[in-house]
Amino acid sequence: MRNQQLLNTFQTIFSTTETPRIFFAPGRINLIGEHTDYNGGHVFPASISYGTYALVQKRNDQKLRFYSQNFSHTGIIECNLAELDYLQRDGWANFPKGMIKFMQERGYNIATGMDILYYGVIPNGAGLSSSASIEMLTGVVLEGLYNLTIDRVDMILLGQKVENDYIGVNSGIMDQFAIGKGKKDHALLLNCETLEYTYTPLELKIHQIIIMNTNKQRTLSSSKYNERRAQCEHALANLQTELPIKSLGDLTVEQFEQWKHLIKDKTHQKRAKHAVYENVRTIEALQKLNDGKLADFGKLMNESHASLQNDYEVTGLELDTLVSAAQQQSGVIGARMTGAGFGGCAIAIVEKEHVDRFKIIVNDYYTKIVGYPATFYLATIGDGAKEITEEWRV
Ligand code: GLA
Repeated sequence: MRNQQLLNTFQTIFSTTETPRIFFAPGRINLIGEHTDYNGGHVFPASISYGTYALVQKRNDQKLRFYSQNFSHTGIIECNLAELDYLQRDGWANFPKGMIKFMQERGYNIATGMDILYYGVIPNGAGLSSSASIEMLTGVVLEGLYNLTIDRVDMILLGQKVENDYIGVNSGIMDQFAIGKGKKDHALLLNCETLEYTYTPLELKIHQIIIMNTNKQRTLSSSKYNERRAQCEHALANLQTELPIKSLGDLTVEQFEQWKHLIKDKTHQKRAKHAVYENVRTIEALQKLNDGKLADFGKLMNESHASLQNDYEVTGLELDTLVSAAQQQSGVIGARMTGAGFGGCAIAIVEKEHVDRFKIIVNDYYTKIVGYPATFYLATIGDGAKEITEEWRV
C-alpha cells in the first residue's frame, strides 16, 4: 500500500478534500527478559520499523470516526466523545477508544472529535505488539492534534491501563514502554520496578536480527498469560512469608535456590525460577553486549528460550521447532521466542551472509514438522511513536 493510496482512501472514506496529519507507532521485539516485566524485573526490547500509521483530521463536533485499512470489512466505527465504554461489537476500535477515554479521565482536554484511519504493517496477533502500537499511536495523535503536553511515561502507563482495565489483559509495561520510548538503532534496558531505563546501541555490524513468525495466531486475552501472572503472584506470596521482597525481580539466583522450598506448588516454583533466572540473565546479557561479546549474548538468548520452554511453558511446538532449527544453522549467534509466547514470533541473530540460506533451511524444516510455512522479516530498529512530518512511505 502506497501513501498516496492511503491518502485517497482517507479522503474517500471520510468524504473530505483536506490533507490529514500523519502519525506512526512502531511494533517491538524483545531481545531478552521475557515475562519479567510484571515480576518487577528487567526487559531489553527495541522498537522496530514495522508499525502502525494513522491519518487523522480534527472534527468540529463530538464525533469520533475510526476506520482501519486492515479491517476494512467492518467499515467506519463511530462513537462520541461522551460514549467511550468498551463494546464487544467495536472490535479493534476498542484500543483507541480506551486510550481516548483514559486520557480524558486523566484530565487531558480533548474538546472535539476526529476522523482517523489506521493502517498497520505489523502482523496482528504475532507477538510484535500490534495492540500496544495502536494505543501509543492514539496517544501521540491526541497529543499532536489537541496540543497537549503529556509526559511520555504517563502516556505509556495509560496505554498499559487500557490493556489491563479496558481490554482485560493483565500485561506488564514492556510493550508500551518500548514503543513509547524506542530509539533508532538502540535497544532499551528497562527496570520494570522503578521504570529507570538506559539505551544501548545495537551495532550488530556483520549480523542481522531476523524476526521469524510461526504464523500461529494467538490472542493474549484468550491465552494462558493471565494464569502465568497469577502463578507468579502466588509464588511471591509464599516467598514473602519469610523474605522482605517486593517482587521476584528482587531475588538473586542464590537467594532463590536457598528459599524456593517456601513455594508450595511445584508448578509455581518453576514459574518463579524462570522469572528470577531470566531477570539475572537479562542484566548479564546487557553486559555482554556492552563488552562486544555477541556470542555470549546469543548463548543467553538460547538459555532464555529453554527456560521459557521448560519452566515457564509458554512456547509450544511451533516456536520450539522454529527456534531449535534456527539455533542449529551456521552463522547463528542465538535464537529465542519473543513476546508473550503461545505462538507468535521468535528472533534470531544471524550473520548477514548466511541469512538467505538460513531462511530456506529453517522454513523447509518448519513446514515439514508444522504443516505450514513460517514468515521471515529483517528487523530494523526505528524510533518510538511520533508524528511524521518529513517525506514518508509506508
Ligand atoms: C506481552 C506483554 C508484556 C510482557 C510480554 C512477555 O508482550 O504485553 O507486558 O509481559 O508479553 O515478556
